[in-house]
Amino acid sequence: MKQHRLTSDQWSQFWSRDTVTTFVRPFDGNYDEEFADFWNTQFSRLADGARVVDLATGNGAIALLAQSYSIEHGKALELVGIDYAEIDPAGMLAAHENLQPLLAGIEFRGGVRIEATGLDDASVDLLTSQYGFEYADAIGAVAEASRVLKPGGRMALILHHVGSTVVEHAREGLDQVQFCLQKEEIDKRVAALVTVMGEAVTPEQRRALKSNRKAESLRKKLNASLTRIKQRSQKYTDPEGFMGVMVPNLLKVFSDYKEAGTAQKLKHIRDVRAAFDAYRERMADLAGAALSPAMVDALVERFEAAGFVVEKRGSLHYKGSLMGWTLELEKPVA
Ligand SMILES: C[S@@+](CC[C@H](N)C(=O)[O-])C[C@H]1O[C@@H](n2cnc3c(N)ncnc32)[C@H](O)[C@@H]1O
Repeated sequence: MKQHRLTSDQWSQFWSRDTVTTFVRPFDGNYDEEFADFWNTQFSRLADGARVVDLATGNGAIALLAQSYSIEHGKALELVGIDYAEIDPAGMLAAHENLQPLLAGIEFRGGVRIEATGLDDASVDLLTSQYGFEYADAIGAVAEASRVLKPGGRMALILHHVGSTVVEHAREGLDQVQFCLQKEEIDKRVAALVTVMGEAVTPEQRRALKSNRKAESLRKKLNASLTRIKQRSQKYTDPEGFMGVMVPNLLKVFSDYKEAGTAQKLKHIRDVRAAFDAYRERMADLAGAALSPAMVDALVERFEAAGFVVEKRGSLHYKGSLMGWTLELEKPVA
C-alpha cells in the first residue's frame, strides 16, 4: 500500500514557524551533541571550497550546522538547502538574530524535490539529509543523488528508525489524538456546551443556566471526559506532551475566550481541531516513513545497484535514546 505523505503545502504550513528543527523540545536551538558530532565528522572530511547540499532541509538545521562548522574551522563551504516546501528560513527565523549571519551565507531553494533537484550533473561534494530522504521516492531519490554527486562525492543520511524514541513518540501522539478525538470526541463536547451556553443571552437566562438540565448534563459529560483524558495521559512517556498542550488550549473557550461571542468560541474550537488533525497527519507520516532493518537493507541494495559504496551503516543515539539510522555512502571515482 502506498504510504500517505504530507503534501508540500502541508510542510510549507509547518515551516511557517520560527523553530530551527521539527522538535520543539529538546532541540529548541539546533541539533547538538551526538547529532552535531555525526555531521561535523562529515564536514571535517571536505576540502576547502566544497559544495554541500542539504536535502529536505526544512528551516535549515543541517545547513546551519555546516555553516557553523565552516566558520569555526576556517573552511569555506558552498551551502545549498533544498526542500519541496516553500521554505524561507531567514524570514521565519528573523527573531533569532544570532542565526542571521549564518543563514545569509546559505542558499535556500523551496519547492524542490529530492527526486528532481535541478542541480547540475556531478556538481556536489556532499549530500546531507536528516529525517528527509526517507520521505522521498527511493528509486528517484537514489538516481538523483547518483546524478548530482561528483565522482568521489559522498552522501550522509540520518533516517527514521522503526524502534527510535522519535517514532515511539509519534505513535504515542497518534494514540493521544485518537483517544481525545475518536473516543472522547472532546472538541464536540466542548462545542456542544459552548452552544448551549451561547443561547443564554440576558442576565436572567445566564443565571438560569446553572439549573439548565441540558447544560448541566453536558458539563458533567465534559468533566468526566476530561478526567478520563487526564488518567490516560499518565500512561504516556510524556504526560505533558500533546494532550497536555492541546486539551488546555481547547478549554480556553471557558477562560481566555469567556467574554467572546459564541461564533468566536466555535472558531477557536475549529482551529484547535485543525491543529489536532495536522499533528495527527504529521505523526502518521513520520511513523510511516520509519525504516525497519529490512527496509534499510533494501535501500542499501538500491544504492549499491546505482554504483554507491556503503562506507558505514549504523544507528544514532542521543543521550542514550535511539534516534535513527545512519548511512554514509560514497560515489566512487569511476
Ligand atoms: C522531518 S522534516 C526534516 C527537516 C530537517 N532536515 C531537520 O532535520 O530538521 C522533513 C522535511 O522533508 C521535506 N520533504 C518531504 N518529502 C520531500 C521530497 N520528496 N523532496 C524534498 N523535500 C521533501 C518536508 O518538506 C520537510 O521539510
